Amino acid sequence: MSAGRTCPLHYRYQPEIFRSKATLHAETLYVIGGLYGNPDALETILNMKAEEERRGQTVTLLFNGDFNWFNRDAESFEQINRSVLQHFALQGNVEAELSQSLEKVSPTEINKTEINKTETNSTETNIIETNSTGPVPQSSASNPDAGCGCNYPSYVSQGVVDRSNTIAQELEKQARAFPDIVEGLKALPRTMTVEIGTQRIGVLHGDPESMAGWKFSVEAMEPPDRDLRTSLGWSKDEENTTESQVWDYFQRANVTAFACTHTCLPFAQDFRPSVDFSQHESANQLRDFPNPKQFEDRRIVINNGSAGMANFQGTTFGLLTRISVHPKRPEASLYGTSLANLRFDALPIHFDMTRWTNRFLNNWPEGSPAHTSYFGRIQNGPNFWVEQARRWQPVPA
Ligand SMILES: [Fe+2]
Repeated sequence: MSAGRTCPLHYRYQPEIFRSKATLHAETLYVIGGLYGNPDALETILNMKAEEERRGQTVTLLFNGDFNWFNRDAESFEQINRSVLQHFALQGNVEAELSQSLEKVSPTEINKTEINKTETNSTETNIIETNSTGPVPQSSASNPDAGCGCNYPSYVSQGVVDRSNTIAQELEKQARAFPDIVEGLKALPRTMTVEIGTQRIGVLHGDPESMAGWKFSVEAMEPPDRDLRTSLGWSKDEENTTESQVWDYFQRANVTAFACTHTCLPFAQDFRPSVDFSQHESANQLRDFPNPKQFEDRRIVINNGSAGMANFQGTTFGLLTRISVHPKRPEASLYGTSLANLRFDALPIHFDMTRWTNRFLNNWPEGSPAHTSYFGRIQNGPNFWVEQARRWQPVPA
């Protein structure tokens, strides 16, 4: 496996990690994944929080990773990180790699290190955490093969992977100028169990087994979105995420919901213990379940896609996941549901596009790796529609 396609051992954990006591309690929680170094989106999110609080509600922000990416300039790098670190935050793969940036050494030095380790019969290993929400355990040796740490699946082109590795290297150069920020990133946990009302919510970056896992990507979920899989180049060799696997995750984690990000396309899907999804050909057929009992004990996986970048065709806004004890549907909600006495919604983040475009182009002009990979999406959105993100059955009257 090459850099950018690997899942480092220290990224991994087990779903039982969420069984521990909740470390955060919230009335209304914004789960903000994939800010991708967009200060204008951050400004809008802070305004959204202030607007809700003017109406008498308390809003807690939890950035669930990859809040860095396009912010290669010193001002944006410092501004994004100092602001995010004032709130609750988790590492994404980008922060996990940045947190090692001070320890990364040149390939020549790595070779010397490996030789010395062999000579001294070192037995150093990484650690897999199973029951803690603490910071990522670090190997004292650097991990030169992780690249951007994205763990890209095989249907993502090698060009995208190579460009992401270059972006990560550029960001690491900037990070080395801010060692206190790097230390702050290193101290962040990878997962968090949040109590909202009486419910426990598992907040993570990738999936319940890895910080950079893709099991909670919309393209992996069953029932399959065949149009999406075709457009992405999904092959039959890829692993589906079955309903029974997700239900097993819920049981082992003892949570009502998983709120995630990382895979860059948003969706929300509910799950019921009595439903056999293998009998259904497409997501659309989910909308025709006749038995109200199947709506009892629903649980949900909700992925916000990207807070700092467009998520739907023909749009430019970011998305965050709002989870609240207050039952009222927010006016701005693109899609949402009431479940277990909580309200779950996808809220748009309408940031200043002119300012963001100028800022992006200053850092990543035409011909640069980030421009090649992302500028089209930033301006026009991906080939994905909001209807594809709503993967649940309306609750019957
Ligand atoms: Fe990620």
